[in-house]
Amino acid sequence: MKQYDITASVCVYQPDELSADDQQLVRAAMEATRTSYAPYSRFCVGAAARLADGQVVTGSNQENAAFPSGLCAERTALFAANAQHPDTPVVALAIAAFTQGHFLSDPISPCGACRQVILEVEDRYGQPIRILLYGTEGVHVVDSVKALLPLYFVSASMK
Ligand code: THU
Repeated sequence: MKQYDITASVCVYQPDELSADDQQLVRAAMEATRTSYAPYSRFCVGAAARLADGQVVTGSNQENAAFPSGLCAERTALFAANAQHPDTPVVALAIAAFTQGHFLSDPISPCGACRQVILEVEDRYGQPIRILLYGTEGVHVVDSVKALLPLYFVSASMK
């Protein structure tokens, strides 16, 4: 038997320790929670994608009475960014969650399906996406979704 370990590095910043661009992206994700349509969970998630040319595209979770028909904030933002700017890579993604009148102290991390979609976007443009998870106690940052998705499956896995 052989064993190997998979590790990930997460940096936790106070907002004022982030670059101006990253602070702006986190604020955009926080703002985007206000556009959430979450009548069932009352859990409002916002996401903001920064493109290589500096443009920011936001999204929020959009729920549905037929629950599986809804979509998370991360995928809403990324699909919108890719649909509107197919030739411009996504370089960073910020995520924030607001419920019961406040932002969460511990950040949420993207669900499995969103991780897989973020990975596809990294693969598509051939560059990592910096992910910023906002919590009131700190912003947790990873340099690529690969830190959140060990043993991932991408197009190259089929070769
Ligand atoms: N949700 C997101 O939008 N992003 C996440 O990272 C986790 C969960 C949404 C889906 C659903 O509308 C609500 O939050 C509760 O799960």
